[in-house]
Amino acid sequence: GEKMYILGIETSCDETSISVLKDGKEILSNIISSQIDIHKEYGGVVPEIASRHHIKNISYILDEALEKAKIKIKDIDYIAVTYAPGLIGALLVGISFAKGLSYSHNIPIIPVHHIKGHIYASFLEYDIRAPFISLVVSGGHTNIVYIDENHKFYNIGSTLDDAVGESYDKVARVLNLGYPGGPIIDKMAKLGKNVISIPEPKVEGYDFSFSGIKTSVINYVNKMNMKKEEFSKEDLATSFQKKVVDILCKKVIVAAKEKKVNQIIIAGGVAANSELRSELTNRAKKENINVFYPSLKLCTDNAAMIAAAGYYKLKYQNDIFADLNLNGIASLNI
Ligand code: KG4
Ligand code: ZN
Repeated sequence: GEKMYILGIETSCDETSISVLKDGKEILSNIISSQIDIHKEYGGVVPEIASRHHIKNISYILDEALEKAKIKIKDIDYIAVTYAPGLIGALLVGISFAKGLSYSHNIPIIPVHHIKGHIYASFLEYDIRAPFISLVVSGGHTNIVYIDENHKFYNIGSTLDDAVGESYDKVARVLNLGYPGGPIIDKMAKLGKNVISIPEPKVEGYDFSFSGIKTSVINYVNKMNMKKEEFSKEDLATSFQKKVVDILCKKVIVAAKEKKVNQIIIAGGVAANSELRSELTNRAKKENINVFYPSLKLCTDNAAMIAAAGYYKLKYQNDIFADLNLNGIASLNI
């Protein structure tokens, strides 16, 4: 039959990305322009600077995405754009750009929740059938989400304070390791020993808390500095990461068993974490649960995952199109 082409647009944080996706599965292009080197100097993303760079880059990214996909804008069937959650100014750049294209080329807009995009990233690389459980772990989010056979989303657990990625970034900052901290700590953790005790947070059910873990790491660093004692950053990285990964694995496996599903999808930037990938895969295997996670380039923010989420919204939901009144929402539950 007819081919379906979806243009994905993602500008919720510090990546400007546009993708062309064919029939919900085949990535014809997925251009990602990262501002990470710009924000590095400030130790984190500066919202105003992020918006300005999105504006400067977005039309070039579109040209590149269409050229690489060998397609003309008039042949695009739908535009899927991230409208929430994220930095409001950054979101509005993508949304306004999508509206302009929609208006001038008569293409319907599918608004996409950024976190659903992260979850559908795995659908680009594996044949997955709902229901499943997703462990969402990014710089801004930590959730356990149940997705039923009709692709309805139920958030069954959230962090009560810091997100996992956020705590990685804060620990890295205390250790003067640079930004973003996740990949750096992940690497260092391979070199140390799990010898520094970090207390387990007491949180019921599927909710999480990471601020106590972060604080105990910070207190340890301050104590050692005050006593002018040497300590191993590697051991601290290992102990911190082991504790975080252990908590994530335990909770998500219990959730999968309770919901009687045998598939877990790890989603979000922290899905790139090597220990989380291997540890969850091993522990889940003992319970006959399969674990899926995207390849590294699809773990962090990109527009192909947004286009994929748009495709499944089209397939499973009604009344999905946005008009030109579409607005960005900084904070929105899944
Ligand atoms: O999903 P993402 O690209 O942006 C958000 O939507 O938040 O996630 C970025 C987060 C950062 O906090 C970064 O430190 C973390 O993902 N991250 C990692 C790893 N790679 C990225 N955390 C732990 N281990 C990693 N290998
Ligand atoms: Zn993200």
